[in-house]
Amino acid sequence: MNIIVIGSGGREHAIIKKLAESREIDKIYALPGNGGMAEAECVNVGAKDIPAIVEFAKTHDIGFAVVAPDDPLVLGCVDALEEIGIPCFGPSAAAAQIEGSKVFSKNLMKKYGIPTAAYEVFDSIEAAREYVKTAPTPIVVKADGLALGKGVLICATREEADAGLREIMEDKMFGDSGNRVVIEEFLEGPEVSVLSFTDGKVVVPMISSMDHKRAGDNDTGLNTGGMGTVAPNPYYTADVAERCMKEIFLPTINAMNAEGRTFKGCLYFGLMITKDGPKVIEYNCRFGDPETQVVLPLLDTDLFTIMKATQAGTLADVDVKWKNGSACCVIMASDGYPKKYESGFELTLPECPRHGAQIYVAGAKIKDGVLVTGGGRVLGVTAVAPTLKEAVANAYEAAEDVKFANAYKRNDIGARALACVQE
Ligand code: AMP
Ligand code: GLY
Repeated sequence: MNIIVIGSGGREHAIIKKLAESREIDKIYALPGNGGMAEAECVNVGAKDIPAIVEFAKTHDIGFAVVAPDDPLVLGCVDALEEIGIPCFGPSAAAAQIEGSKVFSKNLMKKYGIPTAAYEVFDSIEAAREYVKTAPTPIVVKADGLALGKGVLICATREEADAGLREIMEDKMFGDSGNRVVIEEFLEGPEVSVLSFTDGKVVVPMISSMDHKRAGDNDTGLNTGGMGTVAPNPYYTADVAERCMKEIFLPTINAMNAEGRTFKGCLYFGLMITKDGPKVIEYNCRFGDPETQVVLPLLDTDLFTIMKATQAGTLADVDVKWKNGSACCVIMASDGYPKKYESGFELTLPECPRHGAQIYVAGAKIKDGVLVTGGGRVLGVTAVAPTLKEAVANAYEAAEDVKFANAYKRNDIGARALACVQE
């Protein structure tokens, strides 16, 4: 079968590499993909250009589609492809609202009693500014819509919150995504990402993971798309997992069904393990990046089998199995990311990475026959090993063989998780 994968980052490369292991798949097209994806044929069609995606699918004998990024999902890419008879992995636009609108997801959680931070919604800047004048600090201000992962401001003071409201609602730094804001209580505790497969009937959590969002070591500097990940996340104990299933995962699936927005695909739970128990920080309607780069290497079951069952509503029939051991992904970025950075430097990748590591390319292109850097996050190096300690050490060693002029990486990916393991 020929399939298409929509998207172009490291997450998509990890999905493509895993799907390439499936015997049922003959050919994978990546729309648009990137120059480092050797397992797929990259096609110059943008991930948000839904008419062009539909046209491509119609003319290339496509049997299945995986829509990986949030934008096309929220824009209805799955609806458009299924309308022409192509089964997809991913939620409908109606279900993707769980990520597409923070107001929607917060109201859903309130209505169905799913634990999350207390919050208020505002569509007028005057009312929002009035509210923060007396609100407790720190306080969290979130733009309602998609904002490339940057629409969340953690404000230490009321003045900061006021300035943030002006940027989001007045200056429209995230465009229409800032027409409404959620202002919410600041929660404390370790964060856990749990991606799950769901067909709207059952929910199958994947191995838990931990992202490292800040640019600098020891969680300093600006927020990024993610500078590295480890899996499993040691803060996600069996007790926490049980509570999450009962208090969060199943109630969320049931709530979406009750709202007539059955969710099929990968539902990502961004959780904080507070002293009062696990709470939802955010939902994503898709695989996380770079969580996928540590979760999928630990998957033992054929990914395509799971994806088809997710779409068909037969996920209960699949025995989803995981490997023992741990994984660590170290992101190599262009120095300066997430602000200004230079691209276009020659990228040298080891032919056989040390320790059997995987290299997932996120931002690269082929220029005059040479692979060059082409983005903030350039690639991720993932190692799998029996222990977390070894996985971290091996990922860093394998990363030494990746070369480009302005490479930057954090040096402490996994340190917090290791400290927890050793406690
Ligand atoms: P999000 O874009 O929703 O993932 O938020 C980005 C990051 O902001 C999260 O990973 C958390 O670290 C932090 N964050 C979001 N909401 C809260 C909250 N209510 N309390 C504390 N931290 C938060
Ligand atoms: N790593 C966080 C996300 O994918 O949103």
